[in-house]
Amino acid sequence: MWTDGRLCYGGDYNPEQWPAQVWTEDIALMRQAKVNLVTVGVFAWSRLEPAPGRYTFGWLDEVLDLLHGAGIRVALATPTASPPPWFSLAHPGALPVTADGVRLHHGSRDTYCAATPAYRQAARRIAAALADRYAEHPALALWHVHNEYGTICHCEQTAREFRRWLRTRHGDLTGLNDAWVTSFWGQHYSDWAQISTPRATQYLPNPGHLLDFRRFWSDTLLAAYTDQRDLLRAANPAVPVTTNYVLGDWVPVDHARWAAEVDLVAIDHYPSAADGGAEEQTALAADLARGWARHASARRPPAVPAATASTPAWLLMESAPSQIHTAGRMHSKEPGRMLRHSLAHVARGSHGAMFFQWRAPVGGAERFHTALVPHAGPDSRVFRETVELGAALERLAEVRGGVEASVALTVDAASGWALRHPGLPSTRLDHHLELAAAHRAFWRAGYGCATVTPGDPLDGYRLLVVPALYLVDDATTDWLREYLHGGGHLLVTYLSGTADEHARVRLGGYPGALRDLLGVRVEEFHPLADDEHVRLRDGGTARIWSETLRVAGAQVVSSYAGGVLDAMPAVTRHRSGAGTAWYVSTRPDDATYRRLADTTARAAGVVPVCPAAPDGVEAVRRRHADVSWLFLFNHSDRQQRVPARGMELLSATPVEAAVTLPPGGVAVLREKAD
Ligand code: GAL
Repeated sequence: MWTDGRLCYGGDYNPEQWPAQVWTEDIALMRQAKVNLVTVGVFAWSRLEPAPGRYTFGWLDEVLDLLHGAGIRVALATPTASPPPWFSLAHPGALPVTADGVRLHHGSRDTYCAATPAYRQAARRIAAALADRYAEHPALALWHVHNEYGTICHCEQTAREFRRWLRTRHGDLTGLNDAWVTSFWGQHYSDWAQISTPRATQYLPNPGHLLDFRRFWSDTLLAAYTDQRDLLRAANPAVPVTTNYVLGDWVPVDHARWAAEVDLVAIDHYPSAADGGAEEQTALAADLARGWARHASARRPPAVPAATASTPAWLLMESAPSQIHTAGRMHSKEPGRMLRHSLAHVARGSHGAMFFQWRAPVGGAERFHTALVPHAGPDSRVFRETVELGAALERLAEVRGGVEASVALTVDAASGWALRHPGLPSTRLDHHLELAAAHRAFWRAGYGCATVTPGDPLDGYRLLVVPALYLVDDATTDWLREYLHGGGHLLVTYLSGTADEHARVRLGGYPGALRDLLGVRVEEFHPLADDEHVRLRDGGTARIWSETLRVAGAQVVSSYAGGVLDAMPAVTRHRSGAGTAWYVSTRPDDATYRRLADTTARAAGVVPVCPAAPDGVEAVRRRHADVSWLFLFNHSDRQQRVPARGMELLSATPVEAAVTLPPGGVAVLREKAD
């Protein structure tokens, strides 16, 4: 029901910022651009409920009817990410408190504490009022709950909820003291009342405390979401419910865990790089979304199309038509990049491309944020590209099915949080950056990648990459062992398996949980300085980290060259069961990593998606039954030729031998079987 056979196209639409005459122009322009889905009302709480319990729905009725009349469907948002000023005045205790104990004030958005009953009640009330009025509206395609759950709070109410959560997790204080190793620095707790949230403190905080707070807070935000979801579902079970994930490792949410609670995984994606980094970030974000989508709610209404039986579709809910935020400035996307980024998401299973935002506002905090209708109006390059993208998406409506990928990369929210703790051997450790470096190596070498979280089914993946999976519990060790002994190929990088699920170091030599699987034993870490690198005997270079590594059954693949580790093993390979486990004790530089990707992929029998694609051309294949579609993206600044056969859908041209892609060009071929 939320899709009508077309790929979704549109974005955040904020009619409340404009007089009604503009709405008529909006609708005409949306039709011109073939927009078919808009998110309405995301931040409109103060316009919908100007005083407690008093609703002004007239304008929204009119907007939804106008959209429906034009055949444009609506992702109706609950506006709970921006409480009205009256709410904050009436409930000062519901304003969020920072780790320093500072209570924040109204004046931006997200000024609430998700643990406070006053906020939760007010959020449920406005969501229920919207459900009551619009659950059966014919324009309603999707409920879009809130916006980017990503806040944090340290108020007294949060502390009380935290203590309740800790009792459930640890049972008693003995369990908690043991998990947090409170024997260190005499932090032993003898009464639950002694535990607060990890507020700013004198020196290094306790890692177990920090980690549990992150887990608790992710669960608290999730409960704020499910509060609303349940009442929206009850109002009309046929309408799927989602919330948009914000990416970034600062976000206090375990997206994989959340995915089981949404009917459709939806992500917002804003690359932080303007160069080729944007392309690889796009590929990774889309692979992550697809990985999370595999967890999406089992009750998914049949209306949510399954890309394959095991991989439901997901949706790029927000992206930037033009400006990318890079350090200190906004960088305008070059012509063609909006189309290329959007189709790179569709190639990896997004059921369309949505944007922030439809029309650029005249004022407000984000007055210079990019829009499909920019300040210059429709007579602009960006709007012309908007129209072009709408036409392109229509031509791709037939594309469906799973995404070809033989390499899986492991992502784990808790390892990401734990590697941000102070007191680690280096401040340069970052699970997400290690994941990105590994993904970049395989992506550049042309292999189809997927992401998984520990415990996910691994059928179909010939190579599993485990980058800096710092926290490994016993179940994860078993998961890896089973994969390996079943004939899988594992590529594990440094720090993986060093600590358990409470961030306690596993003893007897690193990486405690994985020593036997890898056939190695690490005695000592040697973190590198920012400007330092190590050389490897096979000619490679690496940075960030190095180790005193001893083989205990494994073979040495490459050794350190020079320095204190001269001739000691750096990369190893170990036969274990029917499988092979590789271990990398440092962070290879890009060229070295790419060679390693090729070596391990070849050993695992993995081939690139389109072996004939030249460097700089990305290839992604989707497949449904016996039909396949090959997406080709030329990220380089020169014309490229790719041998291929089929029907090129964007230009509706048959291709007999090869596609020629201009710089920045994209082609999508319905492939001809040989
Ligand atoms: C998103 C957010 C939008 C808007 C946008 C600006 O993360 O959901 O509301 O703030 O960023 O680029």
